[in-house]
Amino acid sequence: MTKKILVTGGAGFIGSHLCERLIKAGEDVLCIDNYFTGSKKNVEHLLAHPLFEVMRHDVTFPLYVEVERIFNLACPASPVHYQFDPVQTTKTSVHGAINMLGLAKRVKARILQASTSEVYGDPEVHPQPESYWGRVNPIGIRSCYDEGKRCAETLFFDYNRQHGTDIKVIRIFNTYGPRMNPNDGRVVSNFIVQALRGQDITIYGDGQQTRSFCYVDDLVDGLIRLMGTSHDVTGPVNIGNPDEFTILELASAVISLTGSSSKIVHKPLPQDDPRQRRPDISMADKELSWAPRMKLKDGLVHTIAYFDNLLSDQALRASLNAD
Ligand SMILES: NC(=O)c1ccc[n+]([C@@H]2O[C@H](COP(=O)([O-])OP(=O)(O)OC[C@H]3O[C@@H](n4cnc5c(N)ncnc54)[C@H](O)[C@@H]3O)[C@@H](O)[C@H]2O)c1
Repeated sequence: MTKKILVTGGAGFIGSHLCERLIKAGEDVLCIDNYFTGSKKNVEHLLAHPLFEVMRHDVTFPLYVEVERIFNLACPASPVHYQFDPVQTTKTSVHGAINMLGLAKRVKARILQASTSEVYGDPEVHPQPESYWGRVNPIGIRSCYDEGKRCAETLFFDYNRQHGTDIKVIRIFNTYGPRMNPNDGRVVSNFIVQALRGQDITIYGDGQQTRSFCYVDDLVDGLIRLMGTSHDVTGPVNIGNPDEFTILELASAVISLTGSSSKIVHKPLPQDDPRQRRPDISMADKELSWAPRMKLKDGLVHTIAYFDNLLSDQALRASLNAD
């Protein structure tokens, strides 16, 4: 049976893939977004679909709609964007969670929160299981995002304990793929754009810090599986790819797959940048029978093709404007 599903932040990178997948599954999707980091272009191909509707709305304001499921993804996700207006970032996480939980309570909808591995901060435990409480700086430049997301988790669990709201919390680790914003400074998009333009590839620090990269299709699969679990499965559940790579290894893979002549240059590490990040995904395996399927190299090939197209379009537009 078709369900009415609300996706907040649906015009963003992950949100647009989720909307697409839900529509393919025959669900009725209402996408809301304030287009701070997302774009209408990300959902342009869905606009004519009878099961898809999009609305400009900021989650820091209440919303009155009739839905059965809510995926709460609205929040800028990259440091350049969430540090642009840090007060607004905290409001988006905290007021956004209150407004969407209020909606879920009113209409008795099931609600899923897109939380983040950043709730673990700069971890002393490696890999990070969901039981680890994290090591987060509450007053640093990343705190608006990290603490905003932590507070949103608190609100989700209090709505569950206090009002019986049907909640799901997913902790997303580094995700990449087509439709990432080319200007958001995230490592995968940065490296690909720099390599395709033949510019120097910037590595912050010595490049020995590690990250794990999950392809967006695998993540969306995890989101949908968690939403489909019974009332007693609340999470938090880590979703990410446990294969760990150094930033230097990622840069080398991008250079080799793009055939670029770019050189690697090093810059100082930003404040509170974690040294290591890798999910423990045993809970996702147990509760959702989920594991990532896409290998980094294959995912990079898809992502490079997307950015290659995007940059050619932009170059074409710039040349047309210059004429
Ligand atoms: N991409 C990742 O690696 C990653 C990792 C951990 C967590 N997440 C979480 O997943 C979610 C989606 O991330 P993404 O990578 O797609 O980022 P994104 O920036 O592409 O998407 C976020 C979307 O939310 C919208 N938005 C921001 N503030 C809003 C507001 N106040 N009201 C309505 N819409 C608003 C943006 O315009 C954008 O479309 C975020 O909540 C993010 O914190 C992402």
